[in-house]
Amino acid sequence: MFTHTIVRTPCSKVCDGITSAPELGKPVYGKALEQHAAYIEALKACGVDVKVLPADEAFPDSCFVEDVAVVTRKCAVITNPGAPSRNHETDSIRGVLLEYYDDAVIEKIQAPGTLEGGDVMMCGDTFYVGRSARTNAEGIRQFGEILGKYGFTVIEVPLAEVLHLKTGVNYLENGTMLVAGEFTDKPEFAAYKKIEIPVEEAYAANCIWMNGTVIVPEGYPTVLARIREAGYPVITVDTSEFRKIDGGLSCLSLRF
Ligand code: GLY
Repeated sequence: MFTHTIVRTPCSKVCDGITSAPELGKPVYGKALEQHAAYIEALKACGVDVKVLPADEAFPDSCFVEDVAVVTRKCAVITNPGAPSRNHETDSIRGVLLEYYDDAVIEKIQAPGTLEGGDVMMCGDTFYVGRSARTNAEGIRQFGEILGKYGFTVIEVPLAEVLHLKTGVNYLENGTMLVAGEFTDKPEFAAYKKIEIPVEEAYAANCIWMNGTVIVPEGYPTVLARIREAGYPVITVDTSEFRKIDGGLSCLSLRF
């Protein structure tokens, strides 16, 4: 179960966030703020406290706070984002993490290792890590060494099609994964039950399990129906403005 979440208010430069889909247009700031506020309410409805960090105008993508740290029940790992424009988003996160973790268990990925939290999926005590354009072999090596000290297992998953691991696969607990595209038949996930997503709704692979409820992006009816059929209560949140800059529900929070 999660008790805490951390989010960061989108900054006014959010329209300049990195995107692989310029055809979707730029985020509208006012709408992004409204959607972010609704996201916070959805988290609270799942029984967690929500710490809201102030907007950081230096970093257009800084609302995607998931990428700057990996938070576990025993330790926190400050990442080293592989996107140059995002690399220094980590500078202010240690002070925040110190509110929840002892300094001794706050770890850091060091250059030349790179790692972004969007590439890390926690499944119990096993952490799958996507080797991506943002997370490199050295970052995964360091992450494995760090988590190994705490008794966790790290398994690398090579990515071919997507930005981050959790762009295409998310763990809904109960041995069940929500999978799209290249993740439907990855050997690393052979032992899990799968809820498969049609290609036209692939964006909605990025749902989050929050204490039994699944938060689902608004506008993906097949995914919504399949998650309901699997027995989960759901809450929907509109993420249209974040989608325009390759962001989804998991990217918008740290959950622990
Ligand atoms: N725009 C989100 C990212 O590229 O990291």
